[in-house]
Amino acid sequence: MSLSDPEVVRQEYASEAGLEARRSLYDNREGPDPREAMWDAIVQSTPRRVLEVGAGPGEVSERITTELGADVIAVDISERMVELAQEKGVDARVGDVQDLPFPDATFDLVVAAWMLFHVPDLDRALAETARVLRLGGRLVAVTNSEHHLGEAREHAGVSMASRVSFSRENGEDALRRHFAHVSRHDIDGSVVFADAEAIRAYLRSTVTMQSAAESVPELDGPLRAGTRNTVFVAEKAP
Ligand SMILES: C[S@@+](CC[C@H](N)C(=O)[O-])C[C@H]1O[C@@H](n2cnc3c(N)ncnc32)[C@H](O)[C@@H]1O
Repeated sequence: MSLSDPEVVRQEYASEAGLEARRSLYDNREGPDPREAMWDAIVQSTPRRVLEVGAGPGEVSERITTELGADVIAVDISERMVELAQEKGVDARVGDVQDLPFPDATFDLVVAAWMLFHVPDLDRALAETARVLRLGGRLVAVTNSEHHLGEAREHAGVSMASRVSFSRENGEDALRRHFAHVSRHDIDGSVVFADAEAIRAYLRSTVTMQSAAESVPELDGPLRAGTRNTVFVAEKAP
């Protein structure tokens, strides 16, 4: 089952339950916060006109509006996510990053946080983000390493490597096909799974791995797993 299968994406984000369960895993993260690294990259681009794609419940769009005073439009393929973002006062619309309904050179910044690995045609999505950016505009794209939480997935017998189309390992090559300059910032930390049930709960919160949850063996003690995230900043040629 692939992360970029449209039916997987539809099921995964029909409600916020799975996303919220996965986010709660990071409440006890040790190490730097990738969301703050993403925020630093957003602030450094001093944007006035921002598009967030795959915005989910809209927290980042809301923060850009309130803290930076920029004009923000959020797009997400899930009607429920758009509803949640709108409840926060965000100008959120249902749409697909592969086919953006905006003229060329509309935005200074596009934000794509943990969403490009869900897109069936990655090159089309990146071409669309580059098209709607002005010359010199930036894409801030956040993703995971193929080894993110690898210790927990290894214990559960689940491999992700072949399924991630936009990752720490392959993201830079994809971005360089569409952008003039690309930088990569890796943010590593860890979380602790207290017991096997915690790993099962994590797997159950995903459409792609839930079938593996019930066969996770017991642990001898708490298991520490590495969180391995990457913030890419890609710039359109000025
Ligand atoms: C893992 S969530 C990330 C949400 C948010 N960006 C965050 O950082 O918490 C991925 C989001 O991308 C959206 N998505 C998936 N495929 C999409 C597409 N082709 N176009 C727009 N949004 C998409 C999903 O509906 C979901 O809300």
